[in-house]
Amino acid sequence: MKEFIQLLPKAELHLHIEGSLEPELMFSLAKKNKIEIPYKNIEDVRTAYNFTNLQSFLDIYYAGANVLITKQDFYDLTWDYILRCVEDNVIHTEIFFDPQTHTHRGIAFETVITGIKEALNDAHKKFGITSNIIMCFLRHLSQEDALETFEMALDYKDDIIGIGLDSSEIGNPPSKFEEVFKKAKEEGFKLVAHAGEEADVSYIYEALDLLDIHRIDHGVQSINSEELMERLKEEQIPLTVCPNSNIELKVFQTYKEHNIKNMLDYGLNVTVNSDDPAYFKGYMNKNFLNLCENLPLTKEDIIKLVKNSFRSSFISDELKEKYLKKVDEYI
Ligand code: HPA
Ligand code: ZN
Repeated sequence: MKEFIQLLPKAELHLHIEGSLEPELMFSLAKKNKIEIPYKNIEDVRTAYNFTNLQSFLDIYYAGANVLITKQDFYDLTWDYILRCVEDNVIHTEIFFDPQTHTHRGIAFETVITGIKEALNDAHKKFGITSNIIMCFLRHLSQEDALETFEMALDYKDDIIGIGLDSSEIGNPPSKFEEVFKKAKEEGFKLVAHAGEEADVSYIYEALDLLDIHRIDHGVQSINSEELMERLKEEQIPLTVCPNSNIELKVFQTYKEHNIKNMLDYGLNVTVNSDDPAYFKGYMNKNFLNLCENLPLTKEDIIKLVKNSFRSSFISDELKEKYLKKVDEYI
């Protein structure tokens, strides 16, 4: 199974680029940019990465992002993630970035997006990896702030395929961002939102009905509503599930309790993703392996999960066909 997963061509649809900042790069950037970080060594970092819920992670994740200053820093961050894609045979990736995390520290929007974009261009040239960029609004901030950020993004419309919503979920429902998502829809962006990671199914209903999103990020709380499950199945709405993240943030206490196999068996369009791999102990293949070691997933299940990702991605129908054929050839 390990070898089967390793060599299987995969797509990733839920990856926060700031969440791929490995401690080694964090230390070297902190030193170069003369930024203080609250860790003496890697051992210290490992101790700190012991989360109790989403917020306990976010506090540390935003602090880590402080070391990112120059365009080259964002390039290096993205390039390191691309090397992990190569290692894990991820051939297409759709990455999130959180501009407000950086613009609020005085880093220009342009610095962030061009650093990421140049690395992704080189990834295509060097490895043939295709990618899309999705810009997320931080939901703990106001809609006004999101609207200002959205204006900045319009200058980079060709580089940004979609708009998403992340950060502290409970208390910040999708309805808070109805206006800015409406504008994004009018401008033709694809729409996604984190919903039902920790918060109840009302957040998923709002994301679907008020924001009109194309994919739900996480969505694992869907299992608590038969009615919602039926709808997700009927409409085949993609759920970008992140197993390691759910365990590390105690959404589920163990992999054996994770509901991805139940959702898959129910007929939902679920996918596997790494979310914030530097913080959650592993990249794409590690997520698959942890599932396989603890749940009765068959090879057919793995194939279904991987094909769901390609089909649910924001690439052209032609490229989808090409990638699905690649998967079939491998099988
Ligand atoms: N949930 C919400 N916000 C995030 C996450 C997540 O899993 N990762 C990075 N920002
Ligand atoms: Zn996420």
